[in-house]
Formats: sequence, structure tokens, C-alpha cells
Amino acid sequence: MSALVIDSLEVVFGAFRALDGLSLAVDPGEVRAVIGPNGAGKTTLLDAITGIARPRSGRILLGDGRDLTQASEAEIARAGVRRKFQKPSVFPALTVRENLGLGCGPDCPARERPVRLARALAETGLEARASVPAGALAHGEKQWLEIGMVLASEPRVLLLDEPVAGLSDDETARTAELIGALRRPDRAILVIEHDMAFVEAVADRVTVLHEGRTLFEGAMAGARADARVIDVFLGR
Ligand SMILES: Nc1ncnc2c1ncn2[C@@H]1O[C@H](COP(=O)(O)OP(=O)(O)OP(=O)(O)O)[C@@H](O)[C@H]1O
Ligand SMILES: [Mg+2]
Repeated sequence: MSALVIDSLEVVFGAFRALDGLSLAVDPGEVRAVIGPNGAGKTTLLDAITGIARPRSGRILLGDGRDLTQASEAEIARAGVRRKFQKPSVFPALTVRENLGLGCGPDCPARERPVRLARALAETGLEARASVPAGALAHGEKQWLEIGMVLASEPRVLLLDEPVAGLSDDETARTAELIGALRRPDRAILVIEHDMAFVEAVADRVTVLHEGRTLFEGAMAGARADARVIDVFLGR
């Protein structure tokens, strides 16, 4: 059974079809990368999953059968679907620990809170930076904090939009390790990224999006060898 099912999803902006009948299914425990050229619809997919963009048709389902297609942003978040946005949005005046507390969310159980924060600090490697204001962090650390904020809510579906954009090679390698460590049998991870070496390191399978549709799905090695993928994306 899949953890997340996108079925024939269509999202339109006026006359423009940003998602044009897109279908994909992510398994529990899987790390799936969604790749493709600028404007392919990758961020729009996350907007639809998180309730920011309303599909015109199609469905978004969780593994337990819950239909999120018409759910509100808050309902979707409560169902355990959490997202790291393309642009980091940590609160600079608050400490790392305080930011993680916010990530835990308004209905974060008080008893679990310290455990979750400690786990998020450990998983992101930010323990030594817990009391530092987020504004004083390096760009890479801000990205990890933002991932930590999502983790503090214990997501079942973790959505990451360009987690290594602007990171150094070292920071990118650390982020790949971090994402590898976030794999859990009861968690599906969907990551959008333009860095193909990173994608190859973290993803079980890739979905190549082009003009709101799936152009290819399978192992990264297969994508690299696919003539259409090379033509519209990798060869550019
Ligand atoms: N709110 C909106 N209103 C109108 N058009 C939009 C809106 N959001 C996205 N689009 C358009 O939909 C298309 C897909 O955009 P999207 O942001 O999903 O692409 P992307 O694959 O994430 O690209 P990138 O790699 O540059 O982040 C683009 O042509 C974009 O201009
Ligand atoms: Mg995008």
C-alpha cells in the first residue's frame, strides 16, 4: 500500500495547466525525488498536497485512505503531511530550540515536546547550536533547522522543496546523510531538487516532471539514460 497517492491531478492557473493529469504514488519508507525543468510544476505539486493550490480534478490520498483533496491546510498538517518550503523561513530572533518548538506546532503534546525537540536537535546535528538565535546560523544550518522544524511535528509525509539550494558541497553531503537518517518505515519523503548528484545519493526513485506530467519514473540511472529526459532536462 502506498503512503501517498496522487491520482490524475490537475491544477490550473487561468488557462494554464500547471499540473496536467499527474499521477504518482510514494511507498512507506521511500525517498522519492521529483525533478524536472523550471516551471515543470514541482512546487505546484507540493502546493496541491498541502492545500495551498486547489486541484480542478483528481485526488490526493493518504495510505490510510484519507482523502486530502479538499482538506484545509490545517487538516492536512494535522494528518501528518508537513513541508519545508523552497525559501527558508526560520524566525531569526528566536533560538534554534524555540524555532523547533514552533515547528512542533500548536497541537504539540506537552509531554512529548522535550523528547521531540531533543530528537530534532540530534537528527539535524544542531545540538551545540540550540541556544543560538536562528538569524546567526549559516545558510546550511538554517536549512537543517527548517528541516528540524518539520521533523518536530513527526511527519508521516515529509515534503522538502530544494533542501540543498545554495549549500556548499560539504553542506550538501551532510544534508544527504541527514535525509538518509530520516527514513522510517512509516514515513514517506518527497524531495524536490535540482542537484542531480544529491538526488542520486538520497532517492530510491525519481519522478521526472515536464509540463505538469510525468515524463519518467524509476531509478536515477534510468532517467539519465532516457532520451526524452535528456532532451527536456538533463541534457540542458
Ligand atoms: N499562483 C500561480 N499563478 C499563476 N501561475 C503560477 C502560479 N504558481 C505557479 N505558476 C506557474 O505554474 C508553472 C509551474 O510552477 P512551479 O513553481 O510549480 O514550477 P517548479 O517546477 O517548482 O519550478 P522551479 O524549478 O523553478 O522551482 C510555472 O509556469 C509557474 O509560472
Ligand atoms: Mg519550485
